[in-house]
Amino acid sequence: MNATAPRPAAARIAVLGSTNMDLVAYVARAPRLGETVTGREFRTVPGGKGANQAVAAARSGGAVTMVGAVGEDAFGELLRAALAEAGVDTAGLRTVPGASGTAHITVDDEGGNAIVVVPGANASVTGLVAGDAARIAAADALLLQLELPPEGVLAGARAARDHGVRTVLTPAPVRPLSEELLSLVDLLVPNEHEAAALTGLADPAAAAGALLERVPEVVVTLGAAGCLYAARGREPLRVPTPRVRAVDTTAAGDTFTGALAVALAEGRPVGEALAWASAAAAVSVRRPGATASMPTRREIDAMASTV
Ligand code: RIB
Repeated sequence: MNATAPRPAAARIAVLGSTNMDLVAYVARAPRLGETVTGREFRTVPGGKGANQAVAAARSGGAVTMVGAVGEDAFGELLRAALAEAGVDTAGLRTVPGASGTAHITVDDEGGNAIVVVPGANASVTGLVAGDAARIAAADALLLQLELPPEGVLAGARAARDHGVRTVLTPAPVRPLSEELLSLVDLLVPNEHEAAALTGLADPAAAAGALLERVPEVVVTLGAAGCLYAARGREPLRVPTPRVRAVDTTAAGDTFTGALAVALAEGRPVGEALAWASAAAAVSVRRPGATASMPTRREIDAMASTV
């Protein structure tokens, strides 16, 4: 986009998803089963795939509302505060008895990660409550992931379809998807491993082709190799990502999806939106932490201009 072009009206993004406190140990390499390794550093960082996408969309310039749940513990307060600080509307974030979600993460010297998620409060989101459908109805797009119970995700997708709101699903952590959920998805954004798990096809282009039989548009993210876009009736599009040195890839996919949703809701052409989202993810992997690493719109523009 031309630097002097007027900024479009803010994209309205609703996120129905998880909030987790990420408990991150930085290690030379992740331990094998039964092994203990000594870490170099520990950080507590607000995360969760839903909250990550919400923060990414807000930093990208979207007007974002978050629907989900935190626990009645200190992490719950911190998670809510982190979303609010990023400019995300948290009126749809319930506080429920018990612990907040946590993610136990090791990040190795290559920037790769291994994660154990304990759902906590996220497990309580088995459906919509008063006000949630209206929040979804007011959005241009609803972002969904799979860290909430399947019935909660489905309820959100149904509400979006009822109100003509575009649904974007990140199928992570990957699990089999019901035909009903797939019939309500407009854009599916798996990474290459998730695409392979969903289709049994290791080749991302073949997997995208198979997924197109079930959803109208697919973006397969390929890490440092960029992404592959496929839509019914169109030639597939491969979009490279800027070359950067990764220190922590946690939430790179969430950053990509949050930025992509904003760019598409602004009406930007799909190739440009994908390149911009790839630039957002490239900025995020250069810094540690999930939400902590997410770029502002200005930072994304700067990275996008290097390609
Ligand atoms: O996608 C990254 C996220 O996955 C982390 O923030 C962690 O909370 C897990 O849910």
